[in-house]
Amino acid sequence: MSEILTIKNLKIHYPIRSGFFNRVTDHVYAVDGVDFMIEKGKTYGLVGESGSGKSTTGKAIVGLEKVTDGAIYYEDQDITNPSIRRKINYNRDVQMIFQDSMSSLNPKKRVLDIIAEPLRNFEKLSVQEEKKRVKELLDIVGMPEDALYKYPHEFSGGQRQRLGVARAVATNPKLIVADEPVSALDLSVQAQVLNFMKRIQEEYGLSYLFISHDLGVVKHMCDNIAIMHKGRFVEIGSREDIYNDPRHIYTKRLLSAIPKIDVRHRDEHKKQRLEVEREYRAHQKDYYDETGRVYDLQKITPTHQVAEKDGGAK
Ligand SMILES: Nc1ncnc2c1ncn2[C@@H]1O[C@H](COP(=O)(O)OP(=O)(O)O)[C@@H](O)[C@H]1O
Ligand SMILES: [Mg+2]
Repeated sequence: MSEILTIKNLKIHYPIRSGFFNRVTDHVYAVDGVDFMIEKGKTYGLVGESGSGKSTTGKAIVGLEKVTDGAIYYEDQDITNPSIRRKINYNRDVQMIFQDSMSSLNPKKRVLDIIAEPLRNFEKLSVQEEKKRVKELLDIVGMPEDALYKYPHEFSGGQRQRLGVARAVATNPKLIVADEPVSALDLSVQAQVLNFMKRIQEEYGLSYLFISHDLGVVKHMCDNIAIMHKGRFVEIGSREDIYNDPRHIYTKRLLSAIPKIDVRHRDEHKKQRLEVEREYRAHQKDYYDETGRVYDLQKITPTHQVAEKDGGAK
């Protein structure tokens, strides 16, 4: 099989404590039973509004979040077990890029030390070798050599995200979880960072889990996409399935929310959006049960699954 990561019935529930005795009175079902797999060299998109459980899923994959139930297999090893993670050097093979590079890159450290940090954890390089490697990494993301001795605040947002990419690829990983890597950037800068990510993917045969709240951003990056809402998947499919044949009302709503650059059709677009919003309100019952929970996924083609009431609603 060609999959690098397989997620089985993943659940992450956060306890809510309240009252005088600070007892656990309820849970936030941040991730509530999701299944998917990422193929080698491919990009898997995870898309949904804020609060839908995307970051929690991503953090669980890199081992930063405790899993309530389910399994995460990396090349057949269940890495929800910390001792297995250590044994297979999982933290070298799987890296994460965060949205906010201002807080994820240590402001007190020079670029050389920031990018070399993962190398120092896993490889024994001499000072010269290390510097050479960091220079190569800077070059890969289109940054000049003199960046070595600068600090994060001396760069623009787009440059900082590129430094984040350089650090993530330093250990030659096989999978990168990119959590909203361009969401804080202007459109033109977004395209630039995405291009670097794509080029690096081709060069290294990397796999990505690409997290975004915006279906517009992931369109040219992803081979397969999962649409997440309330900790569950409402729809999964190939890029073509999701953009050309969306089935779930929530997916349609996300698609209609993609900003349109073309000003001439603004009125028409607004009308479409209102129509989708009306459909979303009118057909809740076909897509969410009485408690508001997303139904289980149903297969409609070999690549395409939709969460709808048994038999489907048209
Ligand atoms: N540490 C935590 N404790 C309690 N609730 C949390 C915690 N982290 C996230 N949540 C909740 O879990 C849900 C999913 O959050 P998150 O995964 O960050 O969503 P997303 O990345 O899609 O915006 C939200 O309701 C959020 O408030
Ligand atoms: Mg998030």
